[in-house]
Amino acid sequence: MQTQVQEIKTAALEACSQASTVQELNQARVKYLGKKGELTLILRSMGQLPSEERPLFGKLVNEVRDELEQALKTRELELSAAEEQERLMGESLDITLPGRKVARGTLHPVTQIINETKVIFMEMGYEIVEGPEVEWDYYNFEALNIPPDHPARDMQDTFFITEDLLLRSQTSPVQIHVMEKQEPPIRIVAPGKVYRADSDVTHSPMFHQIEGLVVDKGITFADLKGTLQLFAEKMFGPETKIRLRPSYFPFTEPSAEVDVSCIICKGDGCRVCSDTGWLEILGAGMVDPRVLVKVGYDPAEVTGFAFGVGVERMAMLKYGINDIRLLFENDVRFLEQFTS
Ligand code: PHE
Repeated sequence: MQTQVQEIKTAALEACSQASTVQELNQARVKYLGKKGELTLILRSMGQLPSEERPLFGKLVNEVRDELEQALKTRELELSAAEEQERLMGESLDITLPGRKVARGTLHPVTQIINETKVIFMEMGYEIVEGPEVEWDYYNFEALNIPPDHPARDMQDTFFITEDLLLRSQTSPVQIHVMEKQEPPIRIVAPGKVYRADSDVTHSPMFHQIEGLVVDKGITFADLKGTLQLFAEKMFGPETKIRLRPSYFPFTEPSAEVDVSCIICKGDGCRVCSDTGWLEILGAGMVDPRVLVKVGYDPAEVTGFAFGVGVERMAMLKYGINDIRLLFENDVRFLEQFTS
């Protein structure tokens, strides 16, 4: 029976080292050490031995059992580590693969133009301010030298809310708010929404303007012209020229309408500029002394210039857009083209 035990041991150790999976190893464990396993059965049949041989035999079987259990344990560790390794390999990621791009939104072209304008003027030392979109008649008209019944009120088809409350028709009222609060020197730009009852390919009932105001001792028309020239070059490119045409605004004197050379045809004449080579983008002028008096400034002490530029106008020009409504439809196929 001893030889039998030795044979079982050899076979069991062999099965143990041959097992190539944890599952096979468990089968071997059951075969030799299980309830009906070969080693278990031989221990049970010990009764056939003469009683004096039993202790020694029992000891031998127990030693073999211990040895086998140890071998199984060691092999199990080896196999499970190998299996884990294989599983991890199967799951591994190739981190060198290029990632999938996340679709990102872009800033609206109108916002981009406003941001660019702010930067250009901040570099020149201007402050950015904002004013209310629902405005008093006083700020939108009266303080700007447009008294009730003044014909200039007809220039802007205003949305009135009450008799003296309205959706501002221009950003110029911000000039008054700023001058009421601050003493010169003043150097501000004020971007924002304005409203007029007007709608076609080049007009929208809501659009954006950027107001500029400079008031200090000795400000001249030359300062205005130089500032606008610099702005045009930075916004539309170094080749850009500007042209000032005499005009009229109740709150500036003298006043001018300002054109930039057409950025599409560079001044040769094309469809966008109706063959004139020029495109109007803003109104400007020297702050009317009456306006300065209204806010308590002394026109003998300080002078100033102001301008109001149309944001959608600039966007249409800069990007060659021929219908203002495209800017407000928010069609993604349109907006996608302005990835900054
Ligand atoms: N507010 C004027 C407009 O909307 C533009 C302007 C602003 C003109 C400042 C002169 C000075 O037409």
